[in-house]
Order: sequence, then C-alpha cells, then structure tokens
Amino acid sequence: MPQPTPRRDTIRINDLLLTVPLLTGSIWPKPSGVAVVQPVLISLSIPHNISSTAATDDLSHTINYSLLCSALRDSLNDKTLPLESLESLSVQIFDILLGSNVSEAHLRIVQSRAPLNCKAVGVECISTRGSGMPWTTGYVKQFLEDLECSVIVGVNACEREERQVVRVNISVERWDSGLKRENWLDFRAMTRLLYEKITETSFQTLEALASFIAEETLHRLSAEKTNDLQVPPLVNVKAAKPSAIVFASSSEVEISRTYVDYPETFIRGTRMLVGDHNLASDIRIHTAALALGSNIGDRFYNIELALRLLETPEAILGTKDAIIAVVNTSFMYESAPMYVTDQPLFINCACMIETNLPPMALLKVLKLIETTVGRVPSVRNGPRAVDLDIIFYDDAVSDTRATPWQELDDLEGELVIPHPRSTEREFVLRPLNDMIPDFIHPRAQRSISTLLAALDIPPDIPSMHKVIPFPQCPPPSDYKFPHSVPLVPPTLTYWSLPSSPSPNLSRTRTNHQTRVMATLNMTPDSFSDGATHNTLPAALEYAQRAFAAGASILDVGGFSTRPGAAFVSVEEEIARVVPCVAAIRAGNAQLPLSVDTFRPEVARAAILAGANCINDVYSFTGQGSYPVQQSEGGDAGRCMSDMKSIAREFAVPVVLMHSRGDAGEDKDYDAYGYTGITGRVLEGVRVELGTKLDLIVKGKGGVRRWFVIVDPGIGFSKSLDGNLEVLRDAAAITADLHVGTGRDRRPNPLAGHPQLIGTSKKSFLGVILQQAGGTKVEPKERGWATAAAVACAVQQGAAIVRVHDTREMVDVVQVANALWSLRRD
Ligand SMILES: *[C@@H]1O[C@H](CO)[C@@H](O)[C@H](O)[C@H]1NC(C)=O
Ligand SMILES: *[C@@H]1O[C@H](CO)[C@@H](O)[C@H](O)[C@H]1NC(C)=O
Ligand SMILES: *[C@@H]1O[C@H](CO)[C@@H](O)[C@H](O)[C@H]1NC(C)=O
Ligand SMILES: *[C@@H]1O[C@H](CO)[C@@H](O)[C@H](O)[C@H]1NC(C)=O
Ligand SMILES: *[C@@H]1O[C@H](CO)[C@@H](O)[C@H](O)[C@H]1NC(C)=O
Ligand SMILES: *[C@@H]1O[C@H](CO)[C@@H](O)[C@H](O)[C@H]1NC(C)=O
Repeated sequence: MPQPTPRRDTIRINDLLLTVPLLTGSIWPKPSGVAVVQPVLISLSIPHNISSTAATDDLSHTINYSLLCSALRDSLNDKTLPLESLESLSVQIFDILLGSNVSEAHLRIVQSRAPLNCKAVGVECISTRGSGMPWTTGYVKQFLEDLECSVIVGVNACEREERQVVRVNISVERWDSGLKRENWLDFRAMTRLLYEKITETSFQTLEALASFIAEETLHRLSAEKTNDLQVPPLVNVKAAKPSAIVFASSSEVEISRTYVDYPETFIRGTRMLVGDHNLASDIRIHTAALALGSNIGDRFYNIELALRLLETPEAILGTKDAIIAVVNTSFMYESAPMYVTDQPLFINCACMIETNLPPMALLKVLKLIETTVGRVPSVRNGPRAVDLDIIFYDDAVSDTRATPWQELDDLEGELVIPHPRSTEREFVLRPLNDMIPDFIHPRAQRSISTLLAALDIPPDIPSMHKVIPFPQCPPPSDYKFPHSVPLVPPTLTYWSLPSSPSPNLSRTRTNHQTRVMATLNMTPDSFSDGATHNTLPAALEYAQRAFAAGASILDVGGFSTRPGAAFVSVEEEIARVVPCVAAIRAGNAQLPLSVDTFRPEVARAAILAGANCINDVYSFTGQGSYPVQQSEGGDAGRCMSDMKSIAREFAVPVVLMHSRGDAGEDKDYDAYGYTGITGRVLEGVRVELGTKLDLIVKGKGGVRRWFVIVDPGIGFSKSLDGNLEVLRDAAAITADLHVGTGRDRRPNPLAGHPQLIGTSKKSFLGVILQQAGGTKVEPKERGWATAAAVACAVQQGAAIVRVHDTREMVDVVQVANALWSLRRD
C-alpha cells in the first residue's frame, strides 16, 4: 500500500533564468580558464507553513518571493566575477538565502546550454539550518540528462550491424559530503569521457550497457579523496532505446549502483603500511606496466622469482592489504648491454600488473623485491640480479624529484612516471610493444609501436632476440630455496629465436634457425612408427640416436590422438610415459624433453620425472570442443586451470596446438564467417587458437607469454586444401596483422609467438601421393613427402619442426636453414 505523503506546504520559484559567467561545463570552452557566460535555470522550493497567510491573506507572514528573485538576480545575474562550477553557484545561492527567514531549501540548477551530446547538466541539493546558523547541505545530486550516443546494442541481426540512438540520464547522489570542492563534477570532462566510452561498446543488452555506464561513472568518481566513514556515492543510470519498440516510445532500464556492486574493479579503501611509507591506498585498481631485467647469475630464475614475489606481496610486506596481480606478459629478450659492454647479456621482459598500491608504495615494493632477489649495489648500469622499473602507472605523469635535473639514471627513492628513458630504449619499448602497442605514451603523446618504429633499428642486425628458457625438472634434490613463495626451478638451458619470427610475409630470408623435435610414441597403436619403441630399452636407444643426430628436443607421448585411436586411461598413460621420461632424463641431463599430453595428471607426473615442456594438442581445454567457453566451469575450465597452474608452478614452455576436438572432425571453416586476407583456414587458426591463448596468458594466474609456442595443428580438423593453405603460408599464423572484421577486428593474438609445425607422415601427405600414384601409401613410406613439407615449414620460419625420422629430417632442416636463414657471423 502506498503511504499518504505527509502534509507539507511548499513555496516554489520555478526556472528563474539567470546568466552567469561559468568556468566549467560550456559547450565550447574558451582556452584555459576564461569564463563563458551561460544561461542557468534556478528552481527553489522552500517548505513553509502557509496556514496563517492563507487565513489572513496577509503578505507579512509569507516569504516575499519577488524579493527573493530580485536578490538572486541582483547578486548573480551578469556578474563579472567568474564562477568556478555549478556547485559553487549553489553555495552562493544559499548564502543569499541566509538573509531570509528560511530554514530549509531545495535548490535545483540546470545548465541548459550543456556540454556537447547532452541536453542538460545540473546540480540539486537540500540544505537545512537552525535559526541564526549557517547552512548544512545534506544531500547533493549531480545529473546529466539525455546524453545521446549512437551505439551497437541489441541481439537482433540488424541491431548488431547498425548503430542506434541510446539516451542516457546519469545522476550521482551523495549524502553527508556537502558541496565540498573535492566532490565537484567537471561535467564537460565527464560527458566527453562517457560519450567516448559508450560509443565504443557493443553490448547485447541495455542492462549490460547501463551497468557499464554506472561502472565507468564510479571509476571517474573513485579518484576523489574519500574517507571510510563517508557514505559512498550512488550512481543512477537510466538508459533508453527510443527506436527499439514500434508501438512504445522507448524501452528503458534504470539502475542504481555503487562501489560494492563492482568488487572486481573497486575495493574498499584501506590504509596500509609499506616499508616506512604509511600510504592510503585508494579504492580503485590501477594498471601499471613494469620492466624487468637481469644480467647476473641464473637470469631466468631471477626474473621468475621477482614475478612470484610480486604476485605474493604479503611474502615481503607481511600485510595482506596490498593487491598485485600480473595480468599480461611480454616475450622475453636477450640483448647486448647498452652502455657498459664487458658484462653478461641482459634478459629483458615486461609485464602489466593490476594493483591497489599508489605509485610510491609500488616503488617501495619493487625495491624490496630487488633486494630480496639479491641485487648488490654496484657500478651504475652494471651487473644486477634483477632490476624492476615502473614504466607506466595508468596514464599518470608524475615526478617526485625536487630538482628536475637530478640524474635520470640514479633515481634513488624518487619516482618519475612514465619512466624517463622509456622512449629511447629498445629493451623497454619492444617488450611493451608485445602487450600494449597502441597505448599512447602519456608524455611523448605517441603510441608504443610508433616510438619503437622511430628507433630505426636495422632489421638485419637486431640488437635483441627472443629467448625461451627451459627449467631443470625436477629441481635438483639438494636444491635450497630461501623464499616464502612457490619454489622456482633453476634454468637448464635456453633457446634463442629471432626477435620477430616473420617480419615480412614475403619470402625473404630471416635470421631464424629451425630446430628439430624428435618424436617418441609410447603407444602400441601409433600410426607413424608402428609401435617399435614401446619398450624401455628401445625407447632409450631411440632417444640417444635422436639427440646424436641433432634433435634439440624430444617429445614423449602415451596417448595417440590419431582419429579412431583407442582410449587410454590416465593411469595407463602415466605408466607408459613416466618411466620412459625418467630413464631418458637419467641418461641425458641437458636436453629439453617434452610430454605430449592433454591431461594435467600426466603432465605433472612427467615433469616430476624430468620432462620440462608440455605439448598439448587441445591447448589446455582437454578433449572439449571449439568454441571455448569463457567461463571456468565444466571439464574444459577445470583442465585449463589445472594445466595453467602446472605450467606456472614449474615454469615450463608449453606448445599450444590448434584443434577442434576430435582430429578427424569439424573441417568446415566457412560456417564461422572467417574472411581474412590470407585465407579462411589461416584466419580460423588465428582466431580459435588465439582465443584459447588469451585465456591461458592473460589475466591473473596466466602463463608467461615467453613460454608459449603455437602449433597450427596441421592434420587436425582440416581438409587437404586447408592443410596445404596453412603449411604454405604458416608465417601468416603469427604475423603482425589484424584478425576479425568490423567491431571484432583486433591485433592477431598469436602475433610474434614461435611456431612448431608437425607434418611428419600425416595422412594429408598420403592423400596427395595416392591421388598422384593411385595406390595407398602407408605412413612409414611417407618420409620423402615429409621432407618436402618440412622444407616448407623451415622456409615459413617455423621455430621447431616435429618429425619421426630424425636422422634424415635433420639433414633436410640443415639444408633448408642454409637456404632461407640469414646467418650472422
Ligand atoms: C501550520 O501552522 C498551523 C498554525 O499556524 C498549524 O495548526 C498547522 O498544523 C501547521 N501545519 C503543518 C503542516 O505543520
Ligand atoms: C521568522 O523567524 C522567526 C523566528 O524563527 C519566527 O518567529 C517568525 O514567525 C518567522 N517569520 C516568518 C514570516 O516565517
Ligand atoms: C515584497 O517586495 C516588493 C518589492 O520587491 C515590495 O514592493 C513588497 O512590499 C514586499 N512585500 C512584503 C510583504 O514585504
Ligand atoms: C532524462 O531526463 C529528462 C528530463 O527529466 C527526461 O525528459 C528524459 O525522458 C529522461 N531520459 C531517460 C532515458 O530517462
Ligand atoms: C595486455 O594487457 C593489457 C592490460 O590489461 C591490455 O590493455 C592489452 O591489450 C593486453 N595485450 C595483449 C597483447 O593481450
Ligand atoms: C617485405 O619485404 C619486401 C621485399 O624485401 C619489401 O619490398 C616490403 O616492403 C617488405 N614489407 C614490409 C611490410 O616490411
């Protein structure tokens, strides 16, 4: 039952028009700080018991509104002293009311010549006072009306294609915080920001759009200084699609949100102690880019340890209040030292973090990590165990140095962001370019990719190359680990790769050297070697011969993924793989060994037996099918989180292959609407494998990007023509181009990743031979056919080719390398 409204008399003045010089919120602001005269409409409503006036019809008992209006006009209209904001205008109006006999007033100010794209902005507030006391403003509402954006929103096909108008009203309501300056809203900046953000969206529902707008608005407010006792602001969003329904004027959603509704984005403000800095964290999660470098000791170990300390700040701070998550990583590079030359080569990489720490507290944490990992103060730019720098912090520009000419290389305790040398150093820009190529450097005002290109590095003689470290698995038994973070295995060896595997899609020479992966199937039913190695002594001998012949890595598998192969239980797969891996590792401590499995239990057991790489034909999604579900639920989600945590725990490289469930099925790429300049199957591989790779690499708990090798999956869910298309143009899989069309267009998620290509003895080769010769060609007779395919893979810049006849294929790769690689000597 609706309650009857309390009886109350009110006197109103509606829409009194005044023109005032305002510094903010105009449609076209004048350059820096000149006020623009603008019309504002003022409405006042004053609760006032009119009974006595009504009874006597005597003016002396009421408020003289004509007097009030002229008082407002006289003191405000065409004033020459500029007003800073609508909020400061409100304060002035209440000051004028002090002279009257009014104890409560509701004020509404509307600026009708509002910033572009919206009809009106304004402020509403309620103030009260005891007699003879100053005003207390208990409620303030700032609002934006009819912000008009044209966006993609809706589920119907036509709504996905064409933009439609969406009208949005936004209000911010606050209690107890008055008209304080720190709560003033810059309506013009707010309108512009929201207009831009809203226009970029393409939600299916108005509900999601409204929620997004509320979150963005709160984001903007969260920069405010707040204290814990204050009631947080409430944001109301009304969004309407005027053209959605034919017989109604519009469909509309109205929501109210505050910080607690977005726990992922906002956390409650806490104070925390970091070192001797007592710093208040704010309620917002910030994004920062960090650069990491090491050139002493086990450089890969140092960097991995630094990252693990960063991910568990409580280990060094002793407080759980600091939040740091590594959410994206670059590739890893080895580069010649820039200024001092007679010292070991540097390893450099970068990561993106999300944190609630303010910049100075973050700097303190980085310094503590440097000390913990073992940085010894030494010659400037000299050897150091690990070096951590804040390159960007949101898009902040800040400099704590008292004297700006203080040396840039010796910023002891001071913080300059963006990092002062971030525009001139390849070892900073190149890793950043792997993650945020389009980010505009807040000081240089140019994108990272533009800055990198401007360095003008000669393409033939790159000063940096990519590296992939292989850890020692299992870690040596006498291995001591002094830190309170998950154990970091020491490094066994590492591979160097060209900094850009295919700088150019044309068939020019590059500086890569393709490596050979030998294959050992411990399956009685494997099609390619017909079960000749599935006894331990034979397997050992095979491994010895493969390494002697020149293989760089050996891949051991116990579950055939050949179409129609027999199911093997987890226990059986482990029983086949683990003794073999252990025996090979016992005989050869130095070479990388990978385990070919899609099961987390098998991967873990094999790593503990000595494998130090995971080769997974289902890219961490188990036997699940394409498309991958974003949610972490279900078998695919469980498999993914288990595989990710194993890969991270042991810091092993991973090979992610493109497949769509069962190898023999789903060969149709037309149905997915791929276009792509280089062919549909190539585009399908980039998009589908890219989706999985993003789930594996990005976000908290992701695998470091430098460990990820991609495999286009030749022979898996592809027709003969599809397989040929992929092999012929394999460089396009990892090229620096865009995938998707229209709103889905984005940089190639596989760009820059080293590639493994496996063609050995696969049935598409058999099909070609049979079409030409008329007779069936068995897998073991496909050696020469494989040689041709391997040569093509080398020419396309594959980092690794996976083969069975190692002796012969090493010769093929050596000749192909000589033909297509640019040797530097
Ligand atoms: C207004 O004042 C009269 C007496 O002057 C009183 O009887 C009446 O209750 C008041 N009304 C309200 C709503 O307070
Ligand atoms: C003005 O205030 C005084 C004291 O609060 C009160 O007695 C008087 O009635 C008020 N006059 C009007 C017109 O409200
Ligand atoms: C109200 O103000 C007008 C002039 O602004 C004046 O003429 C009139 O007498 C005032 N009324 C009362 C009751 O004070
Ligand atoms: C926004 O507010 C204006 C003025 O009150 C109103 O006319 C309009 O319908 C509102 N729009 C939405 C989407 O609620
Ligand atoms: C890496 O993460 C940042 C920050 O979350 C994001 O802006 C960027 O697009 C990511 N880059 C890649 C290549 O995924
Ligand atoms: C690729 O290489 C060809 C031949 O060397 C050259 O003409 C072309 O400009 C290069 N393209 C790019 C994008 O570098």
